[in-house]
Amino acid sequence: MPLSRNGNNPIAWRIEQMNERVRSAKEQDLYLYLQPAEEVDGAYVTINGRRMLQFASYAYLDLIGHPKIQAAAKTALEEFGSGTHGVRVLAGTTRIHVELEQTIARFKGTEDAIALSSGYVTNLGVIAALLGRNDVVISDKLNHASIVDGCLLSRSKFVRFDHNDMEALEQALATAPKRAGKLVVTDAVFSMDGDVIDLPEVIRLCRKYEAVLMVDEAHSVGVLGETGHGILEHFGIDDVSAIDIQMGTLSKTIPSVGGYVAGRSDLITYLKHSVRAFVFSAALPPASAAAAKASFEVIQEEPERVKTLQKNVHYFIKGLQERGFNTLNSETPIVPIIAGDDERAWMMARLSQKQDIFVLPVVSPAVPAGTSRIRANVTAGHTLEEIEQAMNVFEQAGKAVGVLPS
Ligand SMILES: Cc1ncc(COP(=O)(O)O)c(C=O)c1O
Repeated sequence: MPLSRNGNNPIAWRIEQMNERVRSAKEQDLYLYLQPAEEVDGAYVTINGRRMLQFASYAYLDLIGHPKIQAAAKTALEEFGSGTHGVRVLAGTTRIHVELEQTIARFKGTEDAIALSSGYVTNLGVIAALLGRNDVVISDKLNHASIVDGCLLSRSKFVRFDHNDMEALEQALATAPKRAGKLVVTDAVFSMDGDVIDLPEVIRLCRKYEAVLMVDEAHSVGVLGETGHGILEHFGIDDVSAIDIQMGTLSKTIPSVGGYVAGRSDLITYLKHSVRAFVFSAALPPASAAAAKASFEVIQEEPERVKTLQKNVHYFIKGLQERGFNTLNSETPIVPIIAGDDERAWMMARLSQKQDIFVLPVVSPAVPAGTSRIRANVTAGHTLEEIEQAMNVFEQAGKAVGVLPS
């Protein structure tokens, strides 16, 4: 049998290696992934009968369970059922899908938008659809895996520049073949470090070298800008055409699932007919689309949520730094608390969970070796007292494992 454990089959070897890592972490009581939630209740989650403060979710504006969003999903479920039995271009488009795309376009101030079944698939499908073999894609080194995978799938020349290093970006643009199509792609907020791309400089360089610009706003919508409209608002840039391709997800601030691109109508028409993940994959379930549409409306109707989030982010980062933690350059709800090696990150997360703070470790190779961390996400759903409670637990855990002096 080809997958036999005793053979030399590299596929079997890969499976065995991973199983060995998981087994060893479980034996040391350090395996913290895939724990099923029994209940989700605002900023709290119950796992294994233990109610913990949630510091690992992307519920930045605390929208899960919002009455308007729940009602929109229920109505759509009753009206259209649980699925569409089709891809968007054939039988899968409902009135709700069209309304969602119009709502996204209005929210982002663009002519049109396209919604796909996940953020991952959006990056994969859109980058691959735009580029050909003779083109060049230039990507920040810390971009999300879905961007990296999209770049690889496109089969264009894939150039990575040092994280947020504008001289390196310029060098990459200047040395790209003159006649090649050039796409610069970057996260707005980096999903492991929580820092923000130097967008004004990226825009200037893209204009200078006639490159198309795509920005992934997975972690910036609802988070950046005075009213949560994202990175353009954060930098006070009024010209929406400064970013050609505004990509985002419906799974972080927005409590649903899916991904989107907002932009010019000719771009969206192109994508709707050439992104293989759109043309050959099923439409979003109507209830998910309706929940996403209602969420964009709630962000605009309840601007105090963004204010609370930004106040909490400031309080959390300041408090952690005062306790002596290294939080890199985060200025957003994603706050890395650097532990160093993998073991320390695992131990810190395990100790925090034992003190009822649900937080997870991020270890190499997901982040560079030596920068393993717990990644704590603060939201608008936390009170200042709860943030204080979490920070005290992190401090105790940090001292116990030697990240902070005891
Ligand atoms: C920056 C970024 N882009 C894209 C994605 C993929 O989005 P989704 O989870 O909606 O597929 C993620 C998910 O973590 C992300 O962090």
